Amino acid sequence: MLHSQLHDGGIAGDRENLAPLFARRAMTHPVPRYELPSTGMDPEAAYQLVHDELQLDGNPLLNLASFVTTWMEPQADRLLAETLAKNAVDADEYPQTVEIQQRCVNVLAHLFNAPGSGEAVGTATVGSSEAIHLAGLAMKWRWRALRKSAGKPADQPNIVMGSHVQVVWEKFARYFDVEPRYVPCSGHDWGLRVPEAMRKVDENTIGVVGILGSTYTGGFDPIAELDAALTALNTRSGLDVPIHVDAASGGFVAPFTKPGLEWDFRLSLVRSINTSGHKYGLVYPGIGWVLWRDKADLPEDLIFHVSYLGGDQATFNLNFSRGASQIIGQYYNFLRLGRSGYTEIMQALTRLAARLAGKLEATGHVELLSRGQDLPLVCFKLTGERPYDAHEVSEQLRCRGWIVPAYPMPPDIEDTTVLRVVVREGMSRDLVDAFATDFNQAIDILDRSHSTLPPGGHATNQAASVRPVEHRAGKKGIDDSRERAHKAGHRGVC
Ligand SMILES: Cc1ncc(COP(=O)(O)O)c(C=O)c1O
Repeated sequence: MLHSQLHDGGIAGDRENLAPLFARRAMTHPVPRYELPSTGMDPEAAYQLVHDELQLDGNPLLNLASFVTTWMEPQADRLLAETLAKNAVDADEYPQTVEIQQRCVNVLAHLFNAPGSGEAVGTATVGSSEAIHLAGLAMKWRWRALRKSAGKPADQPNIVMGSHVQVVWEKFARYFDVEPRYVPCSGHDWGLRVPEAMRKVDENTIGVVGILGSTYTGGFDPIAELDAALTALNTRSGLDVPIHVDAASGGFVAPFTKPGLEWDFRLSLVRSINTSGHKYGLVYPGIGWVLWRDKADLPEDLIFHVSYLGGDQATFNLNFSRGASQIIGQYYNFLRLGRSGYTEIMQALTRLAARLAGKLEATGHVELLSRGQDLPLVCFKLTGERPYDAHEVSEQLRCRGWIVPAYPMPPDIEDTTVLRVVVREGMSRDLVDAFATDFNQAIDILDRSHSTLPPGGHATNQAASVRPVEHRAGKKGIDDSRERAHKAGHRGVC
């Protein structure tokens, strides 16, 4: 997140000093909000102050917006706490940590069906975003080398992807000067349309992106169809355009719920894959992975050899130092859960998502865009004409503590606004049922509160048992609500 400098009297108004709740008794002097305090404080007071402030964050259990892990077992917590001081890049000091990273890369190479000859390579990253930048760079470098060796210009690279890609792909294209060629999504299956993608590929295409688990709907792009179409195009044209699979979420789901689905290195054009350990890999935030099918897919001149820390270390990362504990947490999960453990969890989450989808559909208030058949998430839009929109439903749910994002679909179908519930570990059958009940109630409240509005006038709020949702009418009201929801990060108005 980018932050701007704040001065006294800025958004903090005249409260330039922190105003703690319980830590106040132990504090001996005022603590400025935006400046380094001139002196320190007692560690217990510092702990209490920060701890109290963080209580204002949402309740992770009720946060249905995020894919990111919010719970690990106490034994994992212990391991992570024990290893917080380790720097993953320091191979000389922490050789066992490096060995563990190596094992994780190998586990994933097997899971993603890398060819048996054992030439796959990969690295841990901070998340899928870093992994995607690295994979994108490798595609660009590889394409440029091919162009140069053929004596052709290499100054106008492009990348082909569905308009439903996560923002990181836009970033990659802009930061690394690659033309993004978006294939518009249709309202039919909400994923990559392969024939249209093929029409955008040319000799300057560094690669085509397939998404295993759309951020919008959770749907899997048809990667096998993409592989077949691109193989035919490459054969016809003499090109050698590869596929990268963005399996940020699906990389830890598909192998366990759909082992027969061919989306990974079983397909010959899939040259690289990223996945987020901190999503369905079930590790706290700060861990992603990127793998290449073969050493040849990772150009040697992207790899740096450094000796500052002793010995020769090969690195290919955007960051240098980083904590090792998440890598260790990933390895813990591999040992602890094994294939059967991950399968059990992912299948259970898929069943829960289907249950939730069924319950929401039964309300008659929603049309499902996905029912958890790929990623365990439920994405839906409101049915019919209503005087309120999905943002207001999101706000109303917030009154009960649920955090459920409402957002427009990608460009070309952005008129459709949807709500999305991500089913992650920690979600139970009881919570699913409670959410469905609260959703129904939220709709009921909105229906009743809007029906009390006199035409063009102010609300009389006759629905006495209704929480004080702000009453708005017509498009202006909806726009106001959206703007406010946006400013408040979709926080409720209760
Ligand atoms: C499809 C997809 N790709 C990439 C990302 C970025 O992943 P990360 O948050 O691990 O950087 C996300 C995050 O939601 C995603 O859904």
